[in-house]
Amino acid sequence: MNSCACAAYCARDRSAGARAQSPGVPVPSLEIQKGETILAKPVRKPEPRKLISAPARKTDVLPVLTGPSLFESADKIADDSLPKIQTDLGDCTRCKLHKGRNKIVFGDGNPKAELVFVGEGPGADEDAQGLPFVGRAGKLLTQMIEAMGLQRKDVYICNVVKCRPPENRLPEKDEVATCSPFLLRQIDAIAPKVIVCLGSVAVQTLLETHRGVSQFRGQWLEFRGRKLLATYHPAYLLRNPNAKGEVWKDLQKVMAVLGLEVKKGKSS
Ligand code: URA
Repeated sequence: MNSCACAAYCARDRSAGARAQSPGVPVPSLEIQKGETILAKPVRKPEPRKLISAPARKTDVLPVLTGPSLFESADKIADDSLPKIQTDLGDCTRCKLHKGRNKIVFGDGNPKAELVFVGEGPGADEDAQGLPFVGRAGKLLTQMIEAMGLQRKDVYICNVVKCRPPENRLPEKDEVATCSPFLLRQIDAIAPKVIVCLGSVAVQTLLETHRGVSQFRGQWLEFRGRKLLATYHPAYLLRNPNAKGEVWKDLQKVMAVLGLEVKKGKSS
């Protein structure tokens, strides 16, 4: 059984997940179902959408950080590649997370993917296998990807931190600061059309904000000239299945940008 590292923040967002699903939007069941047909297929690519920035809200207690962004100003490394990044990461001991890990979870999938999913950090199953999102939350993520008409091998999946935080706690600031440059290089090297942040840690890291995912969810944002969309973490969906409808709407936005069409949906 997977113990996901995002347990703490998932609990924080629990109230947001109870919203009703729109009856007009068919929601595919994200449970494993034998013989389930994939109902999406690639179609003509639509016009690119305008990027919309997250509106600032007066009520926000924790504002988006101001000042120059570490990531925006970070130069791209010429001819960077995933193997080079993995070599540079090596048998990493840069932060304290290395002490408790079994395997580094670098990332997995298509090195030329148009779609990158960014999670938080490995859980127990990922730590054991060295692969991202292979536990319970990972199975749900796989179903989400398949509901989009894709397979795991079509996309790239990685995390903010590459080693499992002890007791599945949230990654700490210094750990994120140490590890996230590798994530940034991964994103630059893959050069996806769309980045989907799964949960608060991913969106907080890439957008350098303290706001939670529910404040960004479903909005098109920008990260280093790429489209970024944040949605709930699959582990949150395991606790709050009612929020699947919202995530499905978010994924449909991603599908539209990627030229994937849902032919027929299935209500869950
Ligand atoms: N949760 C994450 O954020 N990442 C994983 O790889 C697995 C669970």
